[in-house]
Amino acid sequence: MSKARLTEHKQLDDSRQGEALAPSTGEGGTRQLYIESYGCQMNFSDSEIVASILAKEGFRTTDQLESADLVLVNTCSIREKAELTVRKRLEKFQAVKKQNPGMKVGVLGCMAERLKAKFLEEEQIVDLVVGPDAYKDLPNLIEEVDAGREAVNVILSKEETYGDVAPVRLNSNGVTAFVSITRGCDNMCTFCVVPFTRGRERSRDPQSILEEIAQLADQGFKEVTLLGQNVDSYLWYGGGLKKDFDKASDMQKATAVDFAQLLDMVATAQPKMRFRFSTSNPQDMTLDVIRSMAKHNNICNYIHLPIQSGSNRILKAMNRLHTREEYFELIDNIRELIPDCGISQDMIAGFPGETEEDHQDTLSLMEYVKYDFGFMFAYSERPGTLAARKLEDDIPEEVKKRRLTEIIDIQRAHGLLRTQQHVGKTEEVLIEGTSRKSEDHWMGRNSQNTVVVFPKEDYKVGEFVWVKIEDCTSATLIGTAEGRSDMND
Ligand code: SAH
Ligand code: F3S
Repeated sequence: MSKARLTEHKQLDDSRQGEALAPSTGEGGTRQLYIESYGCQMNFSDSEIVASILAKEGFRTTDQLESADLVLVNTCSIREKAELTVRKRLEKFQAVKKQNPGMKVGVLGCMAERLKAKFLEEEQIVDLVVGPDAYKDLPNLIEEVDAGREAVNVILSKEETYGDVAPVRLNSNGVTAFVSITRGCDNMCTFCVVPFTRGRERSRDPQSILEEIAQLADQGFKEVTLLGQNVDSYLWYGGGLKKDFDKASDMQKATAVDFAQLLDMVATAQPKMRFRFSTSNPQDMTLDVIRSMAKHNNICNYIHLPIQSGSNRILKAMNRLHTREEYFELIDNIRELIPDCGISQDMIAGFPGETEEDHQDTLSLMEYVKYDFGFMFAYSERPGTLAARKLEDDIPEEVKKRRLTEIIDIQRAHGLLRTQQHVGKTEEVLIEGTSRKSEDHWMGRNSQNTVVVFPKEDYKVGEFVWVKIEDCTSATLIGTAEGRSDMND
């Protein structure tokens, strides 16, 4: 994976890949659970749900692999490289198991869903295979494994949102948290494995979302990122799949809650918390969403808005249901309603059939938008996707690499330009913790999700502070605090 300014981006932080959940605090639990996660933020959040489900079964988390009774790895299938990383980890687990033969190993998440029982044949050390919708079945599955049998549950659900499971936020900084609002994806982008591994799209009851956020507020959290594969598509009408909305009753339709309304609800309910969301999809993002953002000061001015390619021909082949022109219109609307909005992208280089001209379209699109951040990938064919079945992966590796490098270079330049635009302004920053580079500085983020560092003085973690931005590196803003903001009152 290649990307510019990745570590500053919370949704896909490379430094977190393979991170283990921290040890449980407090009493209770006799069995040791080691759980590490790969891939998107949703996986990291799911691992906290798994830890919560297993805490009731007498498991406490440990970060010591060697002493674990149960080792779980929450996996990602998005690109081949992600899967290879997990295979390597399984080799390591095998070596540990030789020393600790009682240890059981389970695979969770997207690779579990994609490979199903095949995993048990391919990787002898795996005892347990559990897909993303089956975590509530873990207690039964572990009983099976304890009895010496292998256990698999990869059933995808129409309803499961884990809305009733309170995640244990073990790796938390106590300030920012993620709350999932939708699961699955119906968009069927032809390159993407997610619709196959995470199933059909369903939304979580807004009441349970509001309750989780209220609890977070009580615990002192100050920022929540609403999470979904495609948050703009959020639609609650009493439960069930997004695609079955047509069949809902008139009453259900009249009282349905869409994403713009959900944003309005959370921002109104918790005026002293700030809100982010990820990921947006251009074809599903409505003007109402942008209006909700513009209306509430406590909704951050930042949109992660992947496009994948700047070429209409390739967008069509990817089954992205909008054109480059429609995307520009959306960008123009965002800039009109929220002039200082940060915007970031995901881009794929070397999709099947991509010509030099298509690639130039991507570069010129980037030139138009000048994204603040970006996540850029070489196309990786995923088995089972429409692209894998119908299109030949025909762009030579070195061409993919060269195009990717050109995309990354442009992003670097734009990232720097965008960072520099903050210099001279005074911006509201939420303090997340001590700067990685200096004990004497705080690290936080401005509304646009750019990292800001400044001298600590007598400010505290979790406070909203006005910071005068005086300088910057390519990805970090440097400033001096000028006082607490009224978000703290
Ligand atoms: N909706 C998701 C996005 C899916 S995966 C979210 O919430 O983040 C993240 C990114 O991985 C995609 O936007 C796309 O740019 C990239 N990606 C997905 N499938 C890929 C593939 N087969 N090859 C290369 N990159 C891919
Ligand atoms: Fe994948 Fe497209 Fe959904 S990238 S997650 S199918 S919006």
